[in-house]
Amino acid sequence: MKTIHLDLGDHSYPIFIGADLLGRAELVTPYIAGEQVLIVSNETVAPLYLEQALKAFADYRCESVILPDGEQYKTLKTLNIIFDALLEKHFDRKCTLVALGGGVVGDITGFAAACYQRGVDFIQIPTTLLAQVDSSVGGKTGVNHPLGKNMIGAFHQPRCVIADIAVLDTLDERQFSAGLAEVIKYGLIQDAGFFSWLEENMERLLARDAEALIYAIHRSCEDKAEVVAADEKESGIRAILNMGHTFGHAIETGVGYGRWLHGEAVATGMLMAADLSQRLGWLGEQDVARIDNLIDKACLPTRAPADLHCDQFLELMAVDKKVAGGKIHLVLPRAIGESVVCSDYDPAMLKQTLEAHLAVGGGVK
Ligand code: NAD
Ligand code: GLY
Repeated sequence: MKTIHLDLGDHSYPIFIGADLLGRAELVTPYIAGEQVLIVSNETVAPLYLEQALKAFADYRCESVILPDGEQYKTLKTLNIIFDALLEKHFDRKCTLVALGGGVVGDITGFAAACYQRGVDFIQIPTTLLAQVDSSVGGKTGVNHPLGKNMIGAFHQPRCVIADIAVLDTLDERQFSAGLAEVIKYGLIQDAGFFSWLEENMERLLARDAEALIYAIHRSCEDKAEVVAADEKESGIRAILNMGHTFGHAIETGVGYGRWLHGEAVATGMLMAADLSQRLGWLGEQDVARIDNLIDKACLPTRAPADLHCDQFLELMAVDKKVAGGKIHLVLPRAIGESVVCSDYDPAMLKQTLEAHLAVGGGVK
Protein backbone atom coordinates (compact mmCIF):
# COMPACT_ATOMS: atom_id res chain seq x y z
CA MET A 1 0.00 0.00 0.00
CA LYS A 2 1.16 3.55 -0.74
CA THR A 3 0.17 6.60 1.28
CA ILE A 4 0.10 10.24 0.26
CA HIS A 5 -0.32 12.97 2.83
CA LEU A 6 -2.35 15.96 1.68
CA ASP A 7 -0.97 18.81 3.74
CA LEU A 8 -3.73 21.25 4.71
CA GLY A 9 -2.80 22.20 8.28
CA ASP A 10 -5.39 21.04 10.80
CA HIS A 11 -7.48 19.37 8.11
CA SER A 12 -4.67 17.38 6.48
CA TYR A 13 -5.43 13.78 5.55
CA PRO A 14 -3.95 10.61 4.09
CA ILE A 15 -4.79 9.01 0.76
CA PHE A 16 -4.27 5.23 0.88
CA ILE A 17 -3.69 3.51 -2.48
CA GLY A 18 -3.37 -0.23 -3.00
CA ALA A 19 -5.13 -3.54 -3.66
CA ASP A 20 -7.73 -5.12 -1.34
CA LEU A 21 -8.02 -2.19 1.06
CA LEU A 22 -11.82 -2.37 1.32
CA GLY A 23 -12.99 -3.72 4.66
CA ARG A 24 -9.71 -3.00 6.47
CA ALA A 25 -10.77 -1.50 9.81
CA GLU A 26 -7.30 -0.28 10.80
CA LEU A 27 -7.30 2.17 7.87
CA VAL A 28 -10.50 3.97 8.90
CA THR A 29 -10.61 3.66 12.70
CA PRO A 30 -8.11 6.49 13.42
CA TYR A 31 -10.32 8.86 11.41
CA ILE A 32 -13.68 8.17 13.10
CA ALA A 33 -14.43 10.34 16.12
CA GLY A 34 -17.84 9.07 17.27
CA GLU A 35 -19.85 5.85 17.23
CA GLN A 36 -22.23 6.44 14.33
CA VAL A 37 -21.30 5.76 10.70
CA LEU A 38 -23.53 6.19 7.65
CA ILE A 39 -22.29 4.57 4.44
CA VAL A 40 -23.72 6.24 1.34
CA SER A 41 -23.58 4.23 -1.87
CA ASN A 42 -25.71 3.68 -4.95
CA GLU A 43 -27.80 0.90 -6.45
CA THR A 44 -24.92 -0.26 -8.73
CA VAL A 45 -21.99 -0.15 -6.30
CA ALA A 46 -23.78 -1.34 -3.14
CA PRO A 47 -24.56 -4.88 -4.42
CA LEU A 48 -20.91 -5.21 -5.46
CA TYR A 49 -19.03 -3.76 -2.49
CA LEU A 50 -21.22 -2.72 0.46
CA GLU A 51 -20.92 -6.01 2.32
CA GLN A 52 -17.13 -5.97 2.06
CA ALA A 53 -16.95 -2.28 3.02
CA LEU A 54 -19.14 -2.84 6.09
CA LYS A 55 -16.46 -5.11 7.62
CA ALA A 56 -14.28 -2.08 8.29
CA PHE A 57 -17.03 -0.51 10.41
CA ALA A 58 -18.03 -3.56 12.50
CA ASP A 59 -17.15 -1.76 15.75
CA TYR A 60 -19.49 1.17 15.01
CA ARG A 61 -23.24 1.69 14.87
CA CYS A 62 -23.24 1.58 11.11
CA GLU A 63 -26.19 2.24 8.79
CA SER A 64 -26.34 2.57 5.03
CA VAL A 65 -28.34 4.52 2.50
CA ILE A 66 -28.54 3.57 -1.19
CA LEU A 67 -29.04 6.33 -3.76
CA PRO A 68 -30.26 5.95 -7.35
CA ASP A 69 -27.39 5.75 -9.84
CA GLY A 70 -26.61 8.53 -12.30
CA GLU A 71 -25.49 12.13 -12.77
CA GLN A 72 -29.19 13.09 -13.14
CA TYR A 73 -29.63 12.22 -9.44
CA LYS A 74 -26.84 14.53 -8.28
CA THR A 75 -29.50 16.92 -6.98
CA LEU A 76 -30.80 18.63 -3.86
CA LYS A 77 -33.63 16.09 -3.84
CA THR A 78 -31.18 13.19 -3.56
CA LEU A 79 -29.21 15.08 -0.91
CA ASN A 80 -32.39 15.10 1.16
CA ILE A 81 -32.48 11.27 1.13
CA ILE A 82 -29.22 11.41 3.11
CA PHE A 83 -30.49 14.08 5.52
CA ASP A 84 -33.71 12.07 6.05
CA ALA A 85 -31.66 8.98 6.95
CA LEU A 86 -29.37 10.95 9.29
CA LEU A 87 -32.27 12.58 11.12
CA GLU A 88 -34.51 9.50 11.27
CA LYS A 89 -31.64 7.51 12.80
CA HIS A 90 -30.75 10.34 15.22
CA PHE A 91 -27.18 10.84 13.98
CA ASP A 92 -25.29 13.34 16.11
CA ARG A 93 -22.53 15.85 15.32
CA LYS A 94 -19.79 13.28 15.94
CA CYS A 95 -21.05 10.96 13.21
CA THR A 96 -19.03 10.02 10.12
CA LEU A 97 -20.40 9.69 6.60
CA VAL A 98 -18.67 7.31 4.19
CA ALA A 99 -18.95 7.76 0.41
CA LEU A 100 -18.72 4.38 -1.33
CA GLY A 101 -19.00 4.99 -5.07
CA GLY A 102 -17.87 7.12 -7.99
CA GLY A 103 -17.65 10.89 -8.17
CA VAL A 104 -21.40 11.38 -8.02
CA VAL A 105 -21.77 9.55 -4.70
CA GLY A 106 -18.57 11.21 -3.42
CA ASP A 107 -19.67 14.74 -4.30
CA ILE A 108 -23.20 14.34 -2.83
CA THR A 109 -21.99 12.61 0.34
CA GLY A 110 -19.25 15.18 0.90
CA PHE A 111 -21.79 17.99 0.53
CA ALA A 112 -24.19 16.24 2.93
CA ALA A 113 -21.31 16.02 5.43
CA ALA A 114 -20.48 19.71 4.90
CA CYS A 115 -24.09 20.72 5.70
CA TYR A 116 -25.38 18.25 8.30
CA GLN A 117 -25.39 20.02 11.66
CA ARG A 118 -23.06 22.59 10.04
CA GLY A 119 -20.40 20.03 9.23
CA VAL A 120 -19.55 16.45 10.19
CA ASP A 121 -16.69 14.14 9.23
CA PHE A 122 -16.62 12.04 6.08
CA ILE A 123 -14.44 9.41 4.45
CA GLN A 124 -14.04 8.86 0.72
CA ILE A 125 -13.94 5.32 -0.68
CA PRO A 126 -13.84 6.08 -4.42
CA THR A 127 -14.77 3.17 -6.72
CA THR A 128 -14.15 4.62 -10.21
CA LEU A 129 -10.75 5.50 -11.63
CA LEU A 130 -11.94 9.09 -12.09
CA ALA A 131 -12.96 9.35 -8.44
CA GLN A 132 -9.69 7.76 -7.27
CA VAL A 133 -7.47 10.18 -9.18
CA ASP A 134 -9.58 13.30 -8.96
CA SER A 135 -12.97 13.80 -7.31
CA SER A 136 -12.25 12.12 -3.95
CA VAL A 137 -9.18 14.31 -3.37
CA GLY A 138 -9.29 18.04 -2.69
CA GLY A 139 -12.59 18.64 -0.90
CA LYS A 140 -14.81 19.96 -3.68
CA THR A 141 -18.31 18.71 -2.88
CA GLY A 142 -21.72 19.57 -4.27
CA VAL A 143 -24.74 18.86 -6.42
CA ASN A 144 -26.07 20.09 -9.75
CA HIS A 145 -28.80 22.70 -10.25
CA PRO A 146 -31.09 22.55 -13.31
CA LEU A 147 -29.34 25.76 -14.45
CA GLY A 148 -25.76 24.59 -13.94
CA LYS A 149 -23.54 21.63 -13.09
CA ASN A 150 -21.91 21.59 -9.62
CA MET A 151 -23.33 25.04 -8.89
CA ILE A 152 -24.42 24.27 -5.31
CA GLY A 153 -21.56 23.08 -3.13
CA ALA A 154 -18.93 23.59 -0.49
CA PHE A 155 -15.28 22.92 0.17
CA HIS A 156 -15.20 20.15 2.77
CA GLN A 157 -12.17 17.89 3.08
CA PRO A 158 -12.52 14.18 3.87
CA ARG A 159 -10.77 12.68 6.92
CA CYS A 160 -9.11 10.07 4.68
CA VAL A 161 -9.35 8.60 1.17
CA ILE A 162 -9.13 4.87 0.45
CA ALA A 163 -8.41 4.04 -3.20
CA ASP A 164 -8.65 0.27 -3.62
CA ILE A 165 -7.67 -0.75 -7.15
CA ALA A 166 -9.41 -4.14 -6.74
CA VAL A 167 -12.82 -2.46 -7.13
CA LEU A 168 -11.82 -1.19 -10.58
CA ASP A 169 -12.15 -4.77 -11.92
CA THR A 170 -15.91 -4.32 -12.33
CA LEU A 171 -15.69 -0.91 -14.01
CA ASP A 172 -16.60 -1.01 -17.70
CA GLU A 173 -14.06 0.01 -20.33
CA ARG A 174 -15.71 3.29 -21.20
CA GLN A 175 -15.80 4.48 -17.57
CA PHE A 176 -12.20 3.31 -17.10
CA SER A 177 -11.02 5.34 -20.10
CA ALA A 178 -12.95 8.36 -18.81
CA GLY A 179 -10.80 8.16 -15.67
CA LEU A 180 -7.66 7.97 -17.80
CA ALA A 181 -8.51 11.40 -19.22
CA GLU A 182 -7.97 12.96 -15.79
CA VAL A 183 -4.74 10.95 -15.38
CA ILE A 184 -3.44 12.32 -18.70
CA LYS A 185 -4.47 15.78 -17.52
CA TYR A 186 -1.92 15.71 -14.67
CA GLY A 187 0.88 14.88 -17.11
CA LEU A 188 -0.17 17.64 -19.46
CA ILE A 189 -0.64 20.40 -16.87
CA GLN A 190 2.40 19.90 -14.68
CA ASP A 191 4.27 16.62 -15.01
CA ALA A 192 6.10 16.03 -18.30
CA GLY A 193 7.86 12.95 -16.88
CA PHE A 194 4.49 11.39 -16.05
CA PHE A 195 3.20 12.24 -19.54
CA SER A 196 6.14 10.30 -21.05
CA TRP A 197 5.53 7.42 -18.62
CA LEU A 198 1.89 7.31 -19.78
CA GLU A 199 2.97 7.19 -23.42
CA GLU A 200 5.04 4.11 -22.60
CA ASN A 201 2.60 2.40 -20.25
CA MET A 202 -0.88 3.05 -21.63
CA GLU A 203 -1.32 -0.59 -22.76
CA ARG A 204 -0.50 -1.81 -19.23
CA LEU A 205 -3.04 0.60 -17.78
CA LEU A 206 -5.73 -0.49 -20.23
CA ALA A 207 -4.98 -4.11 -19.25
CA ARG A 208 -5.42 -2.94 -15.61
CA ASP A 209 -1.98 -4.15 -14.60
CA ALA A 210 -1.95 -3.67 -10.80
CA GLU A 211 1.56 -2.23 -10.55
CA ALA A 212 0.96 0.26 -13.36
CA LEU A 213 -2.42 1.27 -11.92
CA ILE A 214 -1.07 1.90 -8.43
CA TYR A 215 1.76 3.95 -9.92
CA ALA A 216 -0.59 6.07 -12.07
CA ILE A 217 -3.12 6.66 -9.27
CA HIS A 218 -0.35 7.48 -6.81
CA ARG A 219 1.36 9.95 -9.15
CA SER A 220 -1.98 11.57 -10.10
CA CYS A 221 -2.96 12.01 -6.46
CA GLU A 222 0.52 13.33 -5.63
CA ASP A 223 0.21 15.90 -8.42
CA LYS A 224 -3.29 16.90 -7.32
CA ALA A 225 -2.32 17.03 -3.62
CA GLU A 226 0.55 19.42 -4.43
CA VAL A 227 -1.80 21.83 -6.22
CA VAL A 228 -4.57 21.61 -3.60
CA ALA A 229 -2.09 22.14 -0.76
CA ALA A 230 -0.91 25.33 -2.50
CA ASP A 231 -4.41 26.69 -3.16
CA GLU A 232 -7.18 24.82 -1.34
CA LYS A 233 -10.07 27.14 -2.26
CA GLU A 234 -9.06 27.83 -5.87
CA SER A 235 -8.11 31.46 -5.63
CA GLY A 236 -5.27 30.92 -8.10
CA ILE A 237 -3.13 27.96 -9.18
CA ARG A 238 -5.78 25.26 -8.47
CA ALA A 239 -7.58 26.46 -11.62
CA ILE A 240 -5.00 24.54 -13.71
CA LEU A 241 -6.79 21.36 -12.65
CA ASN A 242 -9.59 22.54 -14.94
CA MET A 243 -7.53 22.00 -18.11
CA GLY A 244 -9.93 20.91 -20.87
CA HIS A 245 -12.95 21.44 -18.62
CA THR A 246 -14.36 24.67 -20.10
CA PHE A 247 -14.34 23.14 -23.59
CA GLY A 248 -15.48 19.86 -22.05
CA HIS A 249 -18.44 21.32 -20.17
CA ALA A 250 -19.62 22.91 -23.41
CA ILE A 251 -19.50 19.48 -25.07
CA GLU A 252 -21.28 17.72 -22.18
CA THR A 253 -24.06 20.31 -22.07
CA GLY A 254 -24.26 20.83 -25.83
CA VAL A 255 -24.87 17.18 -26.69
CA GLY A 256 -27.13 16.65 -23.66
CA TYR A 257 -25.96 15.25 -20.30
CA GLY A 258 -25.12 11.58 -20.39
CA ARG A 259 -24.19 11.23 -24.06
CA TRP A 260 -20.54 12.07 -23.44
CA LEU A 261 -18.95 11.08 -20.15
CA HIS A 262 -17.19 13.86 -18.25
CA GLY A 263 -13.74 12.32 -18.88
CA GLU A 264 -14.47 11.92 -22.60
CA ALA A 265 -15.41 15.58 -22.87
CA VAL A 266 -12.32 16.62 -20.88
CA ALA A 267 -10.11 14.56 -23.23
CA THR A 268 -11.40 16.32 -26.34
CA GLY A 269 -11.37 19.60 -24.41
CA MET A 270 -7.65 19.17 -23.71
CA LEU A 271 -7.03 18.74 -27.42
CA MET A 272 -8.97 21.91 -28.15
CA ALA A 273 -6.87 23.73 -25.53
CA ALA A 274 -3.74 22.30 -27.19
CA ASP A 275 -4.93 23.56 -30.58
CA LEU A 276 -5.34 27.09 -29.21
CA SER A 277 -1.89 26.86 -27.59
CA GLN A 278 -0.40 25.92 -30.94
CA ARG A 279 -2.08 28.95 -32.54
CA LEU A 280 -0.56 31.10 -29.77
CA GLY A 281 2.87 29.71 -30.69
CA TRP A 282 3.35 27.79 -27.45
CA LEU A 283 2.97 24.16 -28.53
CA GLY A 284 4.59 22.74 -31.65
CA GLU A 285 2.89 20.42 -34.13
CA GLN A 286 4.71 17.44 -32.62
CA ASP A 287 3.52 18.27 -29.10
CA VAL A 288 -0.09 18.39 -30.28
CA ALA A 289 0.40 15.07 -32.09
CA ARG A 290 1.75 13.49 -28.88
CA ILE A 291 -1.32 14.65 -26.92
CA ASP A 292 -3.65 13.45 -29.69
CA ASN A 293 -1.92 10.04 -29.81
CA LEU A 294 -2.02 9.53 -26.06
CA ILE A 295 -5.72 10.41 -25.83
CA ASP A 296 -6.44 8.10 -28.77
CA LYS A 297 -4.38 5.30 -27.16
CA ALA A 298 -6.49 5.65 -24.01
CA CYS A 299 -9.59 4.93 -26.18
CA LEU A 300 -10.90 8.46 -25.69
CA PRO A 301 -12.48 10.71 -28.35
CA THR A 302 -10.09 13.07 -30.11
CA ARG A 303 -12.71 15.02 -32.07
CA ALA A 304 -15.54 17.24 -30.88
CA PRO A 305 -19.15 16.20 -31.54
CA ALA A 306 -20.23 16.73 -35.14
CA ASP A 307 -23.55 18.32 -34.19
CA LEU A 308 -22.34 21.45 -32.34
CA HIS A 309 -21.79 24.82 -33.99
CA CYS A 310 -19.22 27.47 -33.18
CA ASP A 311 -21.55 30.21 -31.80
CA GLN A 312 -23.52 27.71 -29.75
CA PHE A 313 -20.24 26.31 -28.40
CA LEU A 314 -19.00 29.78 -27.39
CA GLU A 315 -22.27 30.48 -25.57
CA LEU A 316 -21.97 27.20 -23.69
CA MET A 317 -18.38 27.97 -22.75
CA ALA A 318 -19.43 31.36 -21.38
CA VAL A 319 -21.89 29.72 -18.95
CA ASP A 320 -19.05 27.80 -17.31
CA LYS A 321 -17.89 28.85 -13.83
CA LYS A 322 -14.47 29.85 -15.15
CA VAL A 323 -15.81 33.12 -16.53
CA ALA A 324 -14.97 36.30 -14.66
CA GLY A 325 -15.65 39.84 -15.84
CA GLY A 326 -17.19 38.58 -19.09
CA LYS A 327 -13.96 36.85 -20.23
CA ILE A 328 -13.66 33.12 -20.62
CA HIS A 329 -10.62 32.07 -18.60
CA LEU A 330 -8.96 29.08 -20.22
CA VAL A 331 -6.29 26.76 -18.91
CA LEU A 332 -3.84 26.28 -21.76
CA PRO A 333 -0.66 24.20 -22.06
CA ARG A 334 2.49 26.33 -22.45
CA ALA A 335 4.34 23.08 -23.10
CA ILE A 336 3.74 19.43 -22.25
CA GLY A 337 3.96 19.47 -18.46
CA GLU A 338 3.37 23.20 -18.01
CA SER A 339 0.13 25.18 -18.06
CA VAL A 340 -1.24 28.68 -17.52
CA VAL A 341 -4.61 30.28 -16.85
CA CYS A 342 -5.10 32.66 -19.73
CA SER A 343 -7.71 35.26 -20.65
CA ASP A 344 -5.73 37.59 -22.93
CA TYR A 345 -5.81 35.39 -26.02
CA ASP A 346 -7.23 36.77 -29.26
CA PRO A 347 -10.94 35.71 -29.40
CA ALA A 348 -10.53 35.22 -33.17
CA MET A 349 -8.01 32.47 -32.44
CA LEU A 350 -10.44 30.72 -30.11
CA LYS A 351 -13.00 30.86 -32.93
CA GLN A 352 -10.44 29.32 -35.31
CA THR A 353 -9.85 26.49 -32.83
CA LEU A 354 -13.57 25.83 -32.52
CA GLU A 355 -14.10 25.99 -36.25
CA ALA A 356 -11.21 23.60 -36.90
CA HIS A 357 -12.48 21.06 -34.38
CA LEU A 358 -16.20 21.34 -34.97
CA ALA A 359 -15.76 21.16 -38.74
CA VAL A 360 -14.08 17.74 -38.50
CA GLY A 361 -16.55 16.29 -36.01
CA GLY A 362 -16.24 12.91 -34.45
CA GLY A 363 -17.67 11.59 -31.28
CA VAL A 364 -17.42 8.99 -28.61
CA LYS A 365 -16.15 5.59 -29.72
P1 NAD B 1 -20.15 8.14 -11.49
O1 NAD B 1 -20.05 8.38 -10.06
O2 NAD B 1 -21.45 8.41 -12.17
O3 NAD B 1 -19.73 6.62 -11.78
C1 NAD B 1 -19.79 6.12 -13.10
C2 NAD B 1 -20.61 4.83 -13.18
O4 NAD B 1 -19.83 3.75 -12.66
C3 NAD B 1 -21.88 4.85 -12.33
O5 NAD B 1 -22.89 4.15 -13.00
C4 NAD B 1 -21.46 4.11 -11.07
O6 NAD B 1 -22.53 3.55 -10.36
C5 NAD B 1 -20.56 3.05 -11.66
N1 NAD B 1 -19.56 2.49 -10.76
C6 NAD B 1 -18.87 3.13 -9.80
N2 NAD B 1 -17.94 2.31 -9.29
C7 NAD B 1 -18.04 1.14 -9.93
C8 NAD B 1 -17.35 -0.09 -9.86
N3 NAD B 1 -16.30 -0.24 -9.04
N4 NAD B 1 -17.73 -1.11 -10.65
C9 NAD B 1 -18.76 -0.93 -11.54
N5 NAD B 1 -19.44 0.21 -11.67
C10 NAD B 1 -19.08 1.24 -10.87
O7 NAD B 1 -19.05 8.95 -12.33
P2 NAD B 1 -17.52 9.32 -12.03
O8 NAD B 1 -16.88 9.40 -13.34
O9 NAD B 1 -16.93 8.48 -10.97
O10 NAD B 1 -17.64 10.79 -11.41
C11 NAD B 1 -18.21 11.85 -12.15
C12 NAD B 1 -18.70 12.90 -11.17
O11 NAD B 1 -17.59 13.38 -10.43
C13 NAD B 1 -19.35 14.09 -11.85
O12 NAD B 1 -20.52 14.42 -11.15
C14 NAD B 1 -18.31 15.20 -11.70
O13 NAD B 1 -18.88 16.48 -11.62
C15 NAD B 1 -17.66 14.80 -10.40
N6 NAD B 1 -16.28 15.31 -10.25
C16 NAD B 1 -15.98 15.94 -9.09
C17 NAD B 1 -14.69 16.40 -8.88
C18 NAD B 1 -14.34 17.04 -7.58
O14 NAD B 1 -13.24 17.59 -7.45
N7 NAD B 1 -15.21 16.94 -6.56
C19 NAD B 1 -13.70 16.22 -9.85
C20 NAD B 1 -14.04 15.54 -11.02
C21 NAD B 1 -15.34 15.08 -11.21
N1 GLY C 1 -11.33 18.75 -10.39
C1 GLY C 1 -10.82 20.06 -10.18
C2 GLY C 1 -10.44 20.36 -8.76
O1 GLY C 1 -10.53 19.52 -7.89
O2 GLY C 1 -10.08 21.47 -8.49
